[in-house]
Amino acid sequence: MDVHSFSKPDEAKVKHYDLDLTVDFDKKIISGKAACTIETGKGAKHLILDTRDLKIDKVTIGKDEKPAEFKLEKPVQFLGSALIIDIEEGTTLVTVYYSTSPTAAAVQWLNPEQTAGKKHPFLFTQSQAILARTWVPCQDSPGLRITYSATVHVPVGLLALMSATNPTELSKDGVYHFEMTNPIPSYLLALSVGDIVFKPISNRTGVYAEPATIDKSVYEFADLENMVDAAEKLYGPYAWGRYDLLVLPPSFPFGGMENPRLTFATPTILAGDRSLTSLVAHELAHSWSGNLVTNATWDDFWMNEGFTVYFERRIMEALYGKPFADMQAVLGYQDLEDNVNELGKESRDTDLKLQLKDRDPDDGMTSIAYEKGYFLLRLIEENVGREKMDNFLKTYFKSHSFQTITTEAFLEYFDKELIKGNTALANKIRINDWVYHPGIPTNCPKIISERFNEVEAQSDAFIKGTSAIKLNTKDYQTNEWMHFLSKLPTTMDRAKMNDLDHTFHFTDSGNSEILALWLERVINSNYEPAYPALENFLVHVGRRKFLKPLYADLLKTPQGIKMAKDIYAKARPNYHSVATNTIDEMIAKATK
Ligand code: BES
Ligand code: ZN
Repeated sequence: MDVHSFSKPDEAKVKHYDLDLTVDFDKKIISGKAACTIETGKGAKHLILDTRDLKIDKVTIGKDEKPAEFKLEKPVQFLGSALIIDIEEGTTLVTVYYSTSPTAAAVQWLNPEQTAGKKHPFLFTQSQAILARTWVPCQDSPGLRITYSATVHVPVGLLALMSATNPTELSKDGVYHFEMTNPIPSYLLALSVGDIVFKPISNRTGVYAEPATIDKSVYEFADLENMVDAAEKLYGPYAWGRYDLLVLPPSFPFGGMENPRLTFATPTILAGDRSLTSLVAHELAHSWSGNLVTNATWDDFWMNEGFTVYFERRIMEALYGKPFADMQAVLGYQDLEDNVNELGKESRDTDLKLQLKDRDPDDGMTSIAYEKGYFLLRLIEENVGREKMDNFLKTYFKSHSFQTITTEAFLEYFDKELIKGNTALANKIRINDWVYHPGIPTNCPKIISERFNEVEAQSDAFIKGTSAIKLNTKDYQTNEWMHFLSKLPTTMDRAKMNDLDHTFHFTDSGNSEILALWLERVINSNYEPAYPALENFLVHVGRRKFLKPLYADLLKTPQGIKMAKDIYAKARPNYHSVATNTIDEMIAKATK
């Protein structure tokens, strides 16, 4: 039972979509038809599809396209409108003719000025969690799987890509054909259109990007094949054929999205030194945790993200060593602590198992699923040993391939396969405390990074008065700089800010993670010399993870609120709906 979908799969279930879509950049509309191959249950009378802001023109049944009766229910907040189509037991084909709204929440339409090349428009979709229904009428629940094929018509000269088999070159007529033959949940439906080129990295991996960013991308992701290789060695064969990346314009609201065969990624990981590629390991890991074995509902979101962060750090460890992976784990712990403090130690939103009924599932998508989930898996590993852990996970992915998993089914599986009646082991892990109780359990693993201990010695020294030039920051990579910055107070006097900036040039950093941490200190310290850099960042980057803390810091003071509003007026047209929803709400709260 999924509280975020109107569909009734027991009555009639979609197994395959055949889409025929036309992308109109002038009208900002995607229109066409979705032919649904369905399976019906006993006495079936209706096929129910989720839609939101879709215009339904007509619905037909069967190959001979007999008109069908249908009704579109009143829209419900977050969920949209149920499309109820009259069918019979035994109906196998239902075709919906429809068009999207120009404000469809999944879709971002970029004009040429919002792209790197400035010459052509661009489009991308973001379907997770429940936005697929704003561009495809579908049974929009992660517990249901479909295969799909699609024909997509775009302006001649632009490339179209989907979470499916993809072209590597322009078609002459602007028509592209796609196939996804592995069953996937609807939140993995994805489309992007633009002036996009392809370069291979290995036989089965490569990068798509705008011409202006393709070479930088190829350099940045040189280890792509090694990542896939490491992932397969850990948890079994990669099930999806090719693994490519699409580097999007900077308005992409997430770091990455694990669309099958084609991860969508923010360009803010193009640091120039390959130091932010753990994000790619993360999206790749979803090819197992998430795309092969999928959270049954959004209340089980940690089954996707917690497992993926664990897998991501194992890939990073395999490629770059344990000290590297442990630095990332310590940064993750910091993130977890901050998130728990923000939500409140007693908040049920800090349970791993969420309760998102009557809420936007986006509200549950906090660091808890990621980092509390990670630390639970790490705790299990520390108690059973790595060999058992890896066998357990490998078997888990294999035995649940192309299936969904609820938290409860996992707990049962965990009991049966790992605990096996060993109460001493169960008492060490106390998995229910993690899953059904708030906060950070007392048995959470403490991770020690020697490298970070040295970094803390430097940040302490700076706080106590040592000048920046005297600090030993030799050989610092991105992780160390991030830890160094996060250990500095968010408010510092002008002399200290000047000293840091003149010595380390943070304001000019081309590394988005370092810059974002610095800009938090810029805001809290009223460090005016960096205001232009702050504005530039907020206007051009639409990645919500960066926007949230920066706007939150600005909104703490009256003059900050004014600045936030001025900047947001310029920036808002550049953001995807996922980001504007969050920032609109933050600004409304701060100014009411
Ligand atoms: N699947 C998520 C992104 C997502 C989550 C979209 C929930 C919509 C709703 C993706 O795999 C992800 O976790 N991205 C992270 C990066 C990661 C390295 C933690 C992000 O975008 O920050
Ligand atoms: Zn993820």
